[in-house]
Amino acid sequence: MKLVTVQDLAQIVHKHGFDNFIRDLIQYLKEDFVRWSEFDKSPRYAAHVPGGVLELMPTADKQYFSFKCVNGHPDNPFSGKQTVVATGQLNEVKYGYPILLSEMTTITAFRTAATAILASEYLSRKDSSVLGLVGTGAQSEFQALALKLIRPITTVRYFDTDPAAMDKFERNMADKGLTLVRCNSAKEACEGVDIITVCTACKKHVVVIENDWVKPGMHINGLGGDCPGKTELDKNILFRGKVVVEFTEQSMVEGDIQQLSIDEVAQVLHAELWELISGSKVGRENADEVTIFDSVGFAVEDFSVLRLTHDLAHKYGIGQEVDMVPPIADPKNLISVLN
Ligand SMILES: NC(=O)c1ccc[n+]([C@@H]2O[C@H](COP(=O)([O-])OP(=O)(O)OC[C@H]3O[C@@H](n4cnc5c(N)ncnc54)[C@H](O)[C@@H]3O)[C@@H](O)[C@H]2O)c1
Repeated sequence: MKLVTVQDLAQIVHKHGFDNFIRDLIQYLKEDFVRWSEFDKSPRYAAHVPGGVLELMPTADKQYFSFKCVNGHPDNPFSGKQTVVATGQLNEVKYGYPILLSEMTTITAFRTAATAILASEYLSRKDSSVLGLVGTGAQSEFQALALKLIRPITTVRYFDTDPAAMDKFERNMADKGLTLVRCNSAKEACEGVDIITVCTACKKHVVVIENDWVKPGMHINGLGGDCPGKTELDKNILFRGKVVVEFTEQSMVEGDIQQLSIDEVAQVLHAELWELISGSKVGRENADEVTIFDSVGFAVEDFSVLRLTHDLAHKYGIGQEVDMVPPIADPKNLISVLN
């Protein structure tokens, strides 16, 4: 079995190229989303603990089974720890053996960005050039850099309640060919933008983005409302245009649409993302409509990025082969591993 550590993953991305990693991941996501019905799907298991949540996200097709174990602890940075960390595993289905154990903190950021970008490809205006980014934490650079690959983004307007997080964003984005506009409020960050990506961490119902700030033609990627009792968008925004989610059953509990009644969800929900990708539903139809991707993160996205990580680890010979399955010639002689 391959073990891919954080350092191995960094090496894979270095060899393959950051942009290529995202482009290939978008391709893997498309391949997996168009065969949506082939996956075993269920809302994730969540253990709500004081200060956060621990989640298990499994899925499978005929070839692989995958799962991610991930947390969400919004106050962790106050203790010098990350809000979201994860590990993940890929098993081949035929014999049930694990084939990859990978770090998943970094590849979660990649897959969250690639998924938001995929949604933006179908929902945002093709001429979108200004991104409003609210929340410049761990996910933020991945989001901005990925969006640049599919839309002619020239400018990022950004705001975070933590000035140090904005300083960090500026340092990381200084040489990326984008005009960076530091803002004094979320409202200011949303002024005159084509796409709003909101990615904040607070385990409460918070109105980070207000309805008045959303103008005709805007697309919103709402990423931080991803847990029961944790939302970011003014509820009225959800009535402004097409709302797209990943997996309705999970999003109704975890997404910003948790603020709506079942009848209201039926009224506003336009599609699951796979329906846009497979062509069974349309995305944006005109320059004036408001579109909303209410993302919570779904297991198939983890499956796709684990598949890509596995393929690239083998392509570049990166990662360590480790015995996580007893290497015994006689499958019934398990006790011999102790010799
Ligand atoms: N949808 C998905 O698939 C997905 C995937 C990964 C993370 N997330 C969620 O995205 C969020 C951000 O994750 P992260 O890893 O970047 O966390 P992070 O803690 O590194 O960054 C979050 C940032 O939000 C800022 N913030 C909090 N409240 C704010 C407000 N009202 N206005 C502006 N800024 C505010 C914080 O200061 C922090 O810098 C989390 O809630 C996480 O659960 C979602």
